Parts: sequence; C-alpha cells; structure tokens
Amino acid sequence: MLDIIKNYTKEGNIISQLGNISSICMEEIEDLNWVGFYFYNVDYKALVLGPFNGKKATSIIETGDGVCGSAYTNDEVTVVDDVHNFCGHIACDLASNSELVIPLHKDGNVVGVMDIDSPVKSRFEKNLVDKFNEVVKYIEENIL
Ligand code: SME
Repeated sequence: MLDIIKNYTKEGNIISQLGNISSICMEEIEDLNWVGFYFYNVDYKALVLGPFNGKKATSIIETGDGVCGSAYTNDEVTVVDDVHNFCGHIACDLASNSELVIPLHKDGNVVGVMDIDSPVKSRFEKNLVDKFNEVVKYIEENIL
C-alpha cells in the first residue's frame, strides 16, 4: 500500500496528498468505512476536520474529546475494539464499530491525528496497526 501512496503523493499539496491517502487506504484495506485526518487549529483551539474518505463527519473535535481528541491530548496511538464501550466516543458513521487513531507529529510536536474506522469489531489487530504506523511515519517525514 505504501508504494501506491508514494506514487500518488509525488506532486500536489497537503490537501491532495492526504485526500489520496484516505482514498488509497479505503481501497486497499478491507473492512474500513472512514479514513481521514484532524489537525489542531489555533483559532478554534480544537481539532478541525481535514481531508477524508467516508461519510460526512463532525468538523470540530475539542481536545480531550472522543477517541480523536483523547489520542491527540495523550499523544498516544489508540485502538478501540468496540467504540460502543468507549466513553465519549463521537459517532460520525453509525456503521463504525472499531477505531484506530494515530497522532501526527511535526518538528517533534503533535499536530493532529489520522483516524481510521471499521464496521468490524476488533478490526485493528497488531499487523494492521503496524501498517498504519508506517503510513503515518511516511506522512510525517514527507508531507507535513
Ligand atoms: N469517532 C471519532 C470522531 C470522528 S469520526 O469517527 C470520523 C471520535 O470519537 O473522536
């Protein structure tokens, strides 16, 4: 998958690149229903929705709120096997049952998150988390 991502992020800007990465993840990995990005915005003092692929989603997430805001605040890769058991989970697509959120860093600081949702419970086993960690590393080193 990283080869396809590299091919489609050779040119353009952060919006086209992250938009394509969202689409590529959805096309290449089974059982996902939403892939996208939230970035911290100084005006809102909150996370603001960036490029994504999937159903419409909440535009603003307060730091500390939901899976995304908590992964951002704790700067921690967060795997939720069953979102219905995660207190404060923000439901954008009712089909989502499990979720992976990986913080994004620029110059050593957390600047946002990559959010991946699945309709399948416990979808994010170690191999898949490793694969998305590689994607995030590529984004941090080449796009942000
Ligand atoms: N579920 C996320 C909100 C974003 S949507 O899944 C796209 C959360 O709890 O932060």
